[in-house]
Amino acid sequence: MKKLSGDVYYPSEDILNNAIVKDWNEMDKFASENLEGFWAKEAEELEWFEKWDKVLDDTKKPFYKWFTGAKTNIAYNCLDVHLKTYRKNKVALIWEGEKGESRIFSYFALHREVSRFANVLKSLGVQKGDRVTLYMGRIPELAMGMLACARIGAVHSVVYGGFSVESLHERLEDSHSKVLIVCDGAYQRGKIIPLKAIADEALQRAASVESVLVVKRTGEPVNMEFGRDIWYHELVNLPIINSKNDIEKVDAEDPLFMLYTSGTTGKPKAILHTHGGYMVGTYSTFKYVFDINDEDRYWCAADPGWVTGHSYIVYGPLLNGATSMMYEGAPNYPFPNRWWQIIEKYGITILYTAPTAIRGLMRFGEAWPNRHDLSSLRILGSVGEPINPEAWRWYHRVIGKNNCPIMDTWWQTETGSFMITPMPCMPLKPGSGTKPFPGLKMDILDEAGNPVKDNEEGFLVIKTPWPAMMRTIYKDPDKYIEKYWSKYDGMYLTGDSAKRDEDGYYWIIGRTDDVLKVSGYRLGTAEIESALVSHPAVAEAAAIGLPHELKGNAIHTFVILKSGFEKSEKLREDLIYHVGHEVGPIAKPESVEFVDVLPKTRSGKIMRRVLKARALGEDPGNISTLEE
Ligand code: PRX
Repeated sequence: MKKLSGDVYYPSEDILNNAIVKDWNEMDKFASENLEGFWAKEAEELEWFEKWDKVLDDTKKPFYKWFTGAKTNIAYNCLDVHLKTYRKNKVALIWEGEKGESRIFSYFALHREVSRFANVLKSLGVQKGDRVTLYMGRIPELAMGMLACARIGAVHSVVYGGFSVESLHERLEDSHSKVLIVCDGAYQRGKIIPLKAIADEALQRAASVESVLVVKRTGEPVNMEFGRDIWYHELVNLPIINSKNDIEKVDAEDPLFMLYTSGTTGKPKAILHTHGGYMVGTYSTFKYVFDINDEDRYWCAADPGWVTGHSYIVYGPLLNGATSMMYEGAPNYPFPNRWWQIIEKYGITILYTAPTAIRGLMRFGEAWPNRHDLSSLRILGSVGEPINPEAWRWYHRVIGKNNCPIMDTWWQTETGSFMITPMPCMPLKPGSGTKPFPGLKMDILDEAGNPVKDNEEGFLVIKTPWPAMMRTIYKDPDKYIEKYWSKYDGMYLTGDSAKRDEDGYYWIIGRTDDVLKVSGYRLGTAEIESALVSHPAVAEAAAIGLPHELKGNAIHTFVILKSGFEKSEKLREDLIYHVGHEVGPIAKPESVEFVDVLPKTRSGKIMRRVLKARALGEDPGNISTLEE
């Protein structure tokens, strides 16, 4: 193996001998020379009701299409196909509640529950192409609801349970959802988040929703609106609901889901993914990166409400017939050993989580993990934000006992599947996601579009299409072109800055736009600002992200009050509460500073860069466009 520069962790003999991919270079060469052939070979491992005419159709780029002419259904490949094999009796989903109760579903049982769920949706009049919003805690019914939508060709739109009234309202309205699936409440750190009550408030602002399907989780009393709200358990247990549900044979390019994500300006946008390409992309990346085999017990600790949960709790693992774990609660509740307990209890072999969680658990010291038998682990994963080398090394040494390679996977809601990622056979460098997935061509460019030199920072772009790529922004194809495909001709702009070292390894630095990663969650400064100005006391507001030891970034805000309002500690607290109530607790600002003016360009745009430089005590750079 070639000697690489810097701090390098080479794979063990054991890993090299047993991994599915033993020679990454060979695989990359094959995929690079024949991109369509590579993906066709992957697609052939899945089932199609009708085969494709074309693997990649780039006639209308950047509106790429994959596997055109094919008919399939991702839910069929996640469940039905496994019932024809020994996997029928294999565990598909292990769920553990915050209080320690567990529910375990074989592929047979999960298929049955999803089919029944699909029949419930049909009984509510949901048809192919209809949008269904899910606003739930981390419980099996969330995965079942997603798969049930897919099964009947409906489009799911999952709204993370940590979002609140206005975020939910915006997403319901934009997607024009017919049905909302919600839990009565969700447990978090022993408390109950009243999801149904939040939804009721959002529904007062949203008109399209005809039915609200309520899944009982906490048993706390909720308001049920006659004619609109119905309990899931009541409906699913009616004699008319059985477990026979004919799968909808959809086109490969039919929409599977939309997922709202924050961009630079304005409201969150709905990223649209389709059945065929997304299925092939998540299937292959999951298989190779986590080197999945039948004995594995895989746990992705993300929330299904974000893309990581979609691709790598639900779809990727089930497509591979793997055993996937879902845990309801927080990593350190009631004690900081909660996760280590789970790994030991279920014999987890692959753990996939975010740097913020690792940093948080690191803080409690080694004694907590050392109290548990973590020897079942063989591969670790990281996602969501750059992992600092210190956290990487801790994760590797204390959790992985120096035996488990760490797959630091860089990707986005938009990319659907892993983009820059190691495979277990590759030498690793703490803090780098290594190289683009086989067949992908990426680059780092300067403002003018020239590739930067090794170890210089620039804009990260993707130069080849890939199957799981987003197809468009729902209802806004122009924005899709403008946001992602117009800075550099024919290249996908990621919004991240990065460096590439002399070994061709990529190092992600962070966002180049006004997107913030707070504890790995993606938020836009615009959402926080519009929540602030929706408060009666606020005239103008600006939000920036500043480095934070645990969260990666923390939100700091600057507020100009309307005349007649006085700044006070009480008002500051009110504003923080208001952002939490409108956007969600994850968006609560760390600080609110009352100011008289905000730095703006002459055309009236807030110069957040100037605020950030001031807060960090740095030089704001070019301020020639700053208003007097
Ligand atoms: O900035 C990058 C960061 O997360 C952004 C995408 O956020 P989201 O769409 O919410 O998807 C997160 C989960 C895939 C990226 O633009 N990011 C994601 N993974 C990494 C990362 N930054 C550094 N290293 C990663 N492994």
